Amino acid sequence: MIRHLLSGADLDAATATRILDTAAEMATVAGREVKKLPALRGRTVVNLFYEDSTRTRISFEAAAKRLSADVINFSAKGSSVAKGESLKDTALTLQAMGADAVVVRHPASGAPHRLADWVDGSVVNAGDGTHEHPTQALLDAYTMRSRLGRIAGLSVAVVGDVLHSRVARSNVLLLSTLGAKVTLVGPPTLIPVDIAQALAPGTDVSYDLDAVLPQSDVVMMLRVQRERMNDSYFPSAREYARRYGLDGPRMRRLPEHAIVMHPGPMNRGMEITPEVADSPRSTIVEQVANGVSVRMAVLYLLLGGNNR
Ligand code: CP
Repeated sequence: MIRHLLSGADLDAATATRILDTAAEMATVAGREVKKLPALRGRTVVNLFYEDSTRTRISFEAAAKRLSADVINFSAKGSSVAKGESLKDTALTLQAMGADAVVVRHPASGAPHRLADWVDGSVVNAGDGTHEHPTQALLDAYTMRSRLGRIAGLSVAVVGDVLHSRVARSNVLLLSTLGAKVTLVGPPTLIPVDIAQALAPGTDVSYDLDAVLPQSDVVMMLRVQRERMNDSYFPSAREYARRYGLDGPRMRRLPEHAIVMHPGPMNRGMEITPEVADSPRSTIVEQVANGVSVRMAVLYLLLGGNNR
């Protein structure tokens, strides 16, 4: 098993499949009256969040607690980071406290890689800047496999603000490794030139959502990340929604079996309408639940379970 999980590229097909299979076993714990396993008793997991999060932070905490680990939650807001403490000094402090795993979200792309050089424990990238979010890709793959029975051979459209999306990058890497065909869809201003080939040869790019939908088994809508936009990438929110938003009539162009995904948080009414987000085809709430099982599997496997 790998020591750190920093990128979708860290996972070969066998390792990714092992994580998904372990997550399926972990999911059975959620149905029990006592939702706890003793697997990580005596281990310490630190959640180190320098950037806002709801789903990832809560699900990593739930995952570590369900495995009986001791959990330390660190938020940069209200910490000595506000007094100028560096990431390295914070890392060394966590190291001194005996962290076996550090789950890190950071606005700077590459921060988890730096952290991995400074701590002895495992580092899990919980989202770094516009770079990667590998556990999101794992929970997305888990959700596809649960709903559609397989990943290999699926046609997956990843739609919207690809430029700023760490979710898109990790998904392209992981889904390609697992044999899915990914098409990146969005306005030309929001799809970096050569990104598809740079990440995974065989990935397609399209600027025409309506043309891609009828051939898609999965459509993954991305949040338009206006907080990361310093320029005007499209004329208006209304124009964006008209060309690239998923509404009811567009959803009905999908094949009968196709599912609609979104990593959250959503801009309802922009990239996705409430009719679609709340429809039976939407897996958005399921993705959140699956996130706990997948993150349990990641922590369990990285920390070696009971095999110390
Ligand atoms: N999908 C995701 O990373 O959501 P949060 O920002 O709420 O963690």
